[in-house]
Amino acid sequence: MRLDLSGKTALVTGSTQGIGWAIAAGLARSGARVGVNGRGADTVNAGVERLRAEVTGADVVAVPADVATDEGAAAVTEALPDVDILVNNLGIFEATPALEITDAQWRRYFEVNVLAAVRLTRAYLPGMTARGWGRVQYIASDSAVVIPAEMIHYGMTKTALLAVSRGFAKEAAGTGVTVNSVIAGPTHTGGVEDFVYQLVDRSLPWDEAQREFMRRHRPQSLLQRLIEPEEIANLVVYLSSAQASATTGAAVRVDGGYVDAILP
Ligand SMILES: NC(=O)c1ccc[n+]([C@@H]2O[C@H](COP(=O)([O-])OP(=O)(O)OC[C@H]3O[C@@H](n4cnc5c(N)ncnc54)[C@H](OP(=O)(O)O)[C@@H]3O)[C@@H](O)[C@H]2O)c1
Repeated sequence: MRLDLSGKTALVTGSTQGIGWAIAAGLARSGARVGVNGRGADTVNAGVERLRAEVTGADVVAVPADVATDEGAAAVTEALPDVDILVNNLGIFEATPALEITDAQWRRYFEVNVLAAVRLTRAYLPGMTARGWGRVQYIASDSAVVIPAEMIHYGMTKTALLAVSRGFAKEAAGTGVTVNSVIAGPTHTGGVEDFVYQLVDRSLPWDEAQREFMRRHRPQSLLQRLIEPEEIANLVVYLSSAQASATTGAAVRVDGGYVDAILP
């Protein structure tokens, strides 16, 4: 299957590093023009440069803005008025004991992880439906289904994204626009290596260390290793393609079998 996204414009929120960057690179590799987003001009420019260095001929646009604010979303839509593929990847997470999560934290998690995505969907969906083609995706998590006791505010936002995605898919019914969420599992991103080495023997090489970590601390994973960001990106690129035209309103898993369920 050849996935060709040439002629399409994509926006990936929170894409200066980690899963978002891998998604931006995957979309660019398939020929899409890609907007790289983060809060700071320096991190965005670094992400753009890295992408140009790794993907020959990449057509990349720097879109620095805090999309968790009205002003940031407005700046993004001004820079990229017509987007065909919107990947709402931005998401923050941190561990906090359940009874210590403050009202301010609950609100911030809702605003950054849910409302930012809703706002951009509201901005771009009408253009997609008018053009008769579009792809909207939300990067959810195994935490949407298996709520972690140490970050229920994060889990709540990821469950909410599944609902938001299903709802907007209904809004887009019959228009040629598909709307889906992607349930990503434990992934090998920035701080994760440090986190792993806090829990297993520091002298182990990475491959062994992550397997030991998964065996001891994430035994429900069938993959028994962390997922590489490119493996999440592969699913997102497929869902962005013409070939994925019959998948909409779905929550699709790329979680290494972490969620112990037949359906999401
Ligand atoms: N990592 C995992 O194991 C895992 C597992 C399942 C699901 N996920 C989900 O996957 C997504 C990406 O996670 P990740 O671990 O790859 O993230 P990450 O490495 O922490 O990257 C976060 C990105 O978001 C940007 N960002 C943060 N706040 C922003 C804001 N207000 N506006 C615009 N950009 C902002 C950051 O850039 P700047 O610093 O330049 O702003 C950075 O590019 C999240 O939704 C997460 O919940 C992750």
